[in-house]
Amino acid sequence: MSEPTTAAITLNIDGADVTVPSGTTILQAAGGRGCGIPTLCYGDTITPKNACRVCMVEVEGSRVLVPSCSRPVEPGMVVRTRSERVDHSRKMVLEFLGSSVDLSLTDHVDEWNAEYGADPTRYGADAATLADQPVKVDNDLYIRDYAKCILCYQCVDACGEQWQNSFVIEIAGRGFDSRVSTENDVSLPDSACVYCGNCIQVCPTGALMFKSEYDMRSAGTWDEEHQTVVDTICAFCGVGCNLSLHVQDNTIVKVMSPSDSSITHGNLCVKGRFGFQHAQNRP
Ligand code: SF4
Ligand code: SF4
Ligand code: FES
Repeated sequence: MSEPTTAAITLNIDGADVTVPSGTTILQAAGGRGCGIPTLCYGDTITPKNACRVCMVEVEGSRVLVPSCSRPVEPGMVVRTRSERVDHSRKMVLEFLGSSVDLSLTDHVDEWNAEYGADPTRYGADAATLADQPVKVDNDLYIRDYAKCILCYQCVDACGEQWQNSFVIEIAGRGFDSRVSTENDVSLPDSACVYCGNCIQVCPTGALMFKSEYDMRSAGTWDEEHQTVVDTICAFCGVGCNLSLHVQDNTIVKVMSPSDSSITHGNLCVKGRFGFQHAQNRP
């Protein structure tokens, strides 16, 4: 019996023929994250939810723009990643998001605003209703600042069926009232949260943040330029999860995990994620 083969599909992206395995998305075929197509709700370890619409591209014969992060390639597809229509759509999306929430900690937004001529301030201060809410600080491990939340669903999916299976958070409300919430909006200590921090790992906007980072940012001492990232193995148990320790002034300030790890896929438990103080409790 012959081995199953992965069918190769040839399509055209911006005038160049590209051949990729079937099942590849347009974004992956174009080079993945960093290829020039902006992405916000697309994560390395979460199935795309098509929530932000900033990655839209034009496909010949399609009435509407398509989300490149989730749309699989098809034979003979002709894709344009830049066109007047695409650029206009990205400009509007960046303006709508940027005018309603705080994107100051979201990577690349300033350069995309410049590239697409987006001016989120043109909708006036009244548009920033979602940004007008207090930071939720209800435990010593991580904070939730939903003024920075773009409702990308990544934390919900990481907490739910895609990774943690804890289902602590969901999208509550409808329309403009939509928000990420615990059940009945209880505080995290009163929820079923197991403090794995896998939601922080996937959040693209800084809405979910280590308390250590939040405190340092508030004190004006957070200094990413002078931080180093040290990859190591968690010593708490025999699973051997990969840790990326973010270190500033010889002190661990937060713990992430490589999303391309075949063991953890960026996920950890509470011990690996937050159990780092003992390593630096010095006399
Ligand atoms: S820390 Fe873990 S359990 Fe708690 S909300 Fe985040 S993903 Fe869910
Ligand atoms: S808190 Fe972060 S990960 Fe969760 S929906 Fe908002 S932006 Fe996305
Ligand atoms: S990155 Fe594709 S819809 Fe958000």
